[in-house]
Amino acid sequence: MVRIPEPELMEDPTQVESYANADFETAHSFLIRKFQDRLPQRFVPESILDLGCGPGDMSSRLYLQFPMANFTFLDGSEFMLDLCKKRMDTLDSEKRNNKIDFKKELIQDFVPESPYDLVFSNSLLHHIHDPFQFWGAIQRSIHNDSFIFISDLMRPDSLTQTNQLIERYANNEPEILKRDFYNSLLAAYRIEEVKEMLEIVRLDTKLNVEPVTDRHWICYTKPR
Ligand SMILES: C[S@@+](CC[C@H](N)C(=O)[O-])C[C@H]1O[C@@H](n2cnc3c(N)ncnc32)[C@H](O)[C@@H]1O
Repeated sequence: MVRIPEPELMEDPTQVESYANADFETAHSFLIRKFQDRLPQRFVPESILDLGCGPGDMSSRLYLQFPMANFTFLDGSEFMLDLCKKRMDTLDSEKRNNKIDFKKELIQDFVPESPYDLVFSNSLLHHIHDPFQFWGAIQRSIHNDSFIFISDLMRPDSLTQTNQLIERYANNEPEILKRDFYNSLLAAYRIEEVKEMLEIVRLDTKLNVEPVTDRHWICYTKPR
């Protein structure tokens, strides 16, 4: 089934609100467990970048895991970034010395001041029309020992399969979320496509890609 791109930024207020209020607990806690399983033992990043942070559900999970790290949360949508800020504000009132930056910026324009120990991104790549711009942003943000973890949806084989996934995982969700999920599945990249991208940008020796559910893949730094 051919890929049908969707708009990159999520800026429509109704779409953003419904995404921010959706219950991603099952999928997100599963993906975070996969992330934790793949992290090298005793890896404690001092600097963390969350690309395409959206309303901050994954961002807050990362923050709770590494509360002493410096964070950059980046999204090109002002509305999304505001929701992320609000969510992070509710997390703790303890004064810490770590730095938390919220950047309203396109990944295409992002040039970090210095590389990050951990670069994380969930559910962003399928939004990006030229996927090499995504990999370029990753490459600009890492050093030799950075840990990279990327997760995203994978495009089903057919429309029938797409509709089955909507029924299985979004049946009780509002129409707008169902439509979002449908569009995202059609815009998602397949594992073979991600592997091909990695070969082209020469990250294939550094990163593993694997399916982890019937609709998600993860890509992460290979163990040394
Ligand atoms: C599906 S949401 C994922 C949000 C969050 N990572 C999560 O897991 O819930 C994708 C986010 O990427 C942002 N985005 C899409 N294209 C972008 C780009 N080119 N540069 C920066 N952010 C982008 C959208 O605005 C949206 O907030």
